[in-house]
This record gives sequence, C-alpha cells and structure tokens, in this order.
Amino acid sequence: MKILFITHSFNSLAQRLFIELTQCNHEISIEFDINDAVTIQAVELYQPSLIIAPFLKRALPEEVWQKTPCFIVHPGIVGDRGPSALDWAIMQERQEWGVTVLQANAEMDAGDIWASETFPMRYAAKSSLYRHEVVGAATRAVLTAVARFQSGKFKPLSLDYSRPEVLGQQHVPIRQSDRKINWAEDNAAIILKKIRAADGFPGVLDSLFDTSYYLFDACAEDVLHGVQPGEIIAKRYGAICRATVDGAIWVGHLKRKVAGDPGFKLSATLALKGHLDCVPEIPLDPFVIYCGQTYRDIWFEQKDDVGYLYFNFYNGAMDVEQCHRLRDAYLAATHRDVRVIVLMGGADFWANGIHLNHIEQAVSPADESWRNINAMNDLAQAIITTSKQITIAAIQSNVGAGGVFLSLAADYVYARDDVIFNPHYKSMGNLYGSEYWTYLLPRRVGKLKAESLTQNRLPISAAHARDIGLIDNCFLLNQGDFTKKIEKLAVAVTQDPNYTTHLQKKVLLRQQDEQEKPLQTYRDEELRHMQLNFYGFDPSYHVARYHFVHKIPHAWTPRYLARHR
Ligand code: COA
Repeated sequence: MKILFITHSFNSLAQRLFIELTQCNHEISIEFDINDAVTIQAVELYQPSLIIAPFLKRALPEEVWQKTPCFIVHPGIVGDRGPSALDWAIMQERQEWGVTVLQANAEMDAGDIWASETFPMRYAAKSSLYRHEVVGAATRAVLTAVARFQSGKFKPLSLDYSRPEVLGQQHVPIRQSDRKINWAEDNAAIILKKIRAADGFPGVLDSLFDTSYYLFDACAEDVLHGVQPGEIIAKRYGAICRATVDGAIWVGHLKRKVAGDPGFKLSATLALKGHLDCVPEIPLDPFVIYCGQTYRDIWFEQKDDVGYLYFNFYNGAMDVEQCHRLRDAYLAATHRDVRVIVLMGGADFWANGIHLNHIEQAVSPADESWRNINAMNDLAQAIITTSKQITIAAIQSNVGAGGVFLSLAADYVYARDDVIFNPHYKSMGNLYGSEYWTYLLPRRVGKLKAESLTQNRLPISAAHARDIGLIDNCFLLNQGDFTKKIEKLAVAVTQDPNYTTHLQKKVLLRQQDEQEKPLQTYRDEELRHMQLNFYGFDPSYHVARYHFVHKIPHAWTPRYLARHR
C-alpha cells in the first residue's frame, strides 16, 4: 500500500514507523508539514491510499482528510484530547498512559478510533517516555490500524465518552504557569516532576541571576542540601545542584530565554558561565561505588571479571570535555582486573556524536568542531587498540552519526531489537565524519554497503543492522532483560576456555590491519575531509548545524525522504 507520512520532522517515531511499515511491504514517502499548499501538492503527487501523521504540530488541511483517510498518532489514551498530552499525564502522576490512532476530521483529536495501546508509566522525563514507551505503543497501534484499514472490514469506533473504557478527557494546553516552580514551597519530588514533564521541550521557565532560563535534565540528590531554596550549592561536570526546601536537586541543562530567539540548550555551567566561580565543583570519581541518588554522567561497575562503563550524556551528545573524561575512564578501566569491558552508553541514546550545541556556542565553531572530533577520535582509538580485554558495545537505545561508528570500535556490538541506527553523517551539511569510520564500517559490512548506508542517510532497524553485519546480534528484550542478557554474554566470554586465544587473535588482527594501513592514515584522511567541512569554502556543515541546533523549521523535505518528488 502507498502510505504518505505528513510529519513535522523525521523524528524517532516517524523513523520507527518508516522502518516497520517498510518491513510490512508498504511503500512510504514522507513530506514535512511545511504549509497546507505543500501538503496538498504532496498528496496529489503521490496519490497515497493512506496518510499517517506520526508527529504533527498543527491540523491537517480539510481538503486532504476529506479525500484521503488520515491517521493521526495521538500520544494519549482513548478520549484524551488536546496538546500537552504526555505533559499532563506526568503532572497528574498517571499510572498508565497510552497512544491512540484516530482518523482526522474537523474536530481536533475527536476522529474515529482505529487502534489504541496502553503502557505503564515510568518515572522518567517526557522525552524518555516518548522515545521508549510512546514509540513502542504507537508502533503497535499503527501496525494494527493499518492492518485493519487494509482488511477493509474494520469499522472504526466513534469517540463516545459514555463508554466505560474511554478514560481520557479534553484538556487545555499546559502553560508555564502550570509548570512554575515555587522554590519556597515545592519539595524536590514536585520540582523533579515539573521538570520531567517539560523535558526535552519546552523546559520549565525559571529565573537565575535575574535572567530567564528553561530548566532540563534534572535528577535527585540525597546528600547535599543548602539553606536558601533555589540557590546553587554545587556544580559537577556541567550540572548545577540547587537547594530545595527538603534537600537538593541537580539540573544538567539550561536554555536561556531571549525575546525573539528560540535559543538552544547548553550544559548548565556553560549557560551560566561567569556566575559560578564561587560555587564548589564536587567531582565524583566514576569508579566510586555510589548507591544513592546524585548526578553522574560516567560511571563504572565491576562484576567479577567484567567491567561495565556507562556514559549517560544528555541527548547522546559528547563535547570535548566529556570525550576526554570518558577516554580517561575507559583507559582506567583497561587497567582494572577485568577480561571484558562493556560500553553501556546512555539510557535514552547510546551516543549521537560530537556536541553540536556546544560547538554552536563556541567563539569559533570551526575550531570547536575540530577539537571535538579529535577528542572523539582519541576515544575511539583507545577502544580500537585495546589489547588486554575483549570489548562489547551494548546498545539499549537509539544511536546516531558518530555514536554508531564509536560503537563499532568495540569487538562485539549487541543491541536491543527496537533500537534505531542512523549510521551516517551526511544530513549534517554533507559532513564527512571521522571516528575511524572508513576503517570500522567496511570491515563489517563491505565497501558497497558502507557506501549505501552513508549516502542513503536512512535509519535502519537493529535486525537489519544485524542482517548486514553492522552489529553482531540484537535481542527482543526490555532494558532490564537486555542488561541481564549482556551480562550473560560478557560472562560467557570471560569463561570461554579459548579466551586467551581470542584475545591473541584480536591483537594479531589489529597488527595485520595496522601493517596494511595504519590507523593514523585513516584518521588523517578522514580529518582532511573534515577540515574542509569545518574550514573550507562550502559552509554547508555550519548552516546545517545552525538549523539543527536552533530547530529552524524545515523549508522543504529532503528528496531522499520525499520519493514522490
Ligand atoms: N549534538 C547536540 N544535540 C543533539 C545531537 C548532537 N550530536 N544529536 C541529537 N541532539 C539533540 C537534538 O537537538 C534533540 O534536542 P532536544 O532535546 O532539544 O529536542 C535531541 O537530541 C533529540 O534529537 P532528535 O533529533 O529529536 O532525535 P531523533 O531520535 O529524532 O533523531 C538523530 C536522532 C541522531 C538522527 C538526530 O538527532 C541527529 O541527526 N543528530 C545529529 C547527529 C550528528 O550529526 N552528529 C554530529 C556528527 S557526529
């Protein structure tokens, strides 16, 4: 069936639906929701049997839904209507939430219901719930709805609030006044809830040093506390710790509110540069076992002969300092008494490459890009040249651009089944990329496949990644069971009677590869291209980064997505 996506952007949900529906032999074309005229034209050009709107910020034009059935993916339970669905669900501490697929009509979110799914709510930020629970439920619901539509026999249910199973209701858009933190009264749990319900967008508006900032990326703290609620009492690796009436919380990221400028997120200490000189930096060694709640982005856990290195960077973005700290931690891990090192990445993204926001903020974005990619390369090189351990990348959440190639530096790469891989850089203004991808990618998938993956710029599923050899295996497991599976695999490696032989083989292979073409040569070649991206006459990378960081709405849909064009 020909299906057209009308979507605000090709976000994680649109990507996942694209992958799943393509696997079901549907033909998908994509048009970004730019304006009514463009949408109408796309429908005329493509003549789809069905339109799906995975992620919309405004209503579809009547001319479109009158002629072609349009499925709207609403991130709310049956009967829920209006924007900020997930925000309200978190604020109201719902135990269960859901996704409904409904047919567009004249009334917003009131169309006939084709399918719905529910999920238990997790104590997490809105964006995290969206990327995991919502995407999962939406995928199941859309696949059901499409199958029902295709059968031609299913009659969708009209929205009827008298039915007992219709538990949702109409709600108003959430406002900053609903989210406002009252530092003198709200305890840490309430503040955390408010910030989580607004993370990653729009954040909770607050004031610091007489300036308005949106707060993001919050977590609990159970040792530190201050006198004045709201005051900044400590800083650690870019995050700030603020006193509350009953203790303290950490805030990792801020976005300054400037009239007429949407602004962009920065680590809190970078956003408040110049204001925090007297605030004590309280480091936390990644190797210290700490069971309480506090802020840490890198930590190491050892179980028997296996070391697990976690790097939970906000949005998977890795700036120079984070790359340095992670490399230091990695090298320290190699000096531990471990036979296997597992690279665990983060809970919401394994990694997404260099930190485009921090680069954008730098006095010289070109210089900062250069420093950042070199710091990434130093980290990748440390992993590739590890000679005393077997390494495993355990990918439990989406991974993009440089993050994908960083994972390939490990000896084995395993992923959860619903992880989406974006193994390409090109969408970022023709960025060539580094992280030794010209060495790591072809040796796994061959030259031809490497070329198509990097040029096509499309997301791929974990199963597809396994089938083409990009990764070693993937498992249909939730995060908890995946971690257990990885532990089993890692322990099996340590207990393999041929462990030493495997290690020797790996070292030998690396030596042979080095003789054939030194790692440094790959790096130099890649960096020559990157130098042109950063310092050359073509400003495409700087323009694309500016658009990405500032979230400038798309002016057109890239041709590799809009096959109807
Ligand atoms: N640097 C800074 N921020 C990044 C980032 C990066 N490398 N990659 C993703 N982000 C941020 C996004 O801006 C977004 O921020 P928000 O919380 O303010 O909304 C958030 O992470 C989620 O990204 P989003 O694009 O909404 O997620 P997605 O699942 O739809 O798409 C990617 C994932 C990886 C395909 C997409 O984020 C991307 O293309 N990132 C850039 C990758 C890149 O080019 N890196 C540089 C070269 S190594």
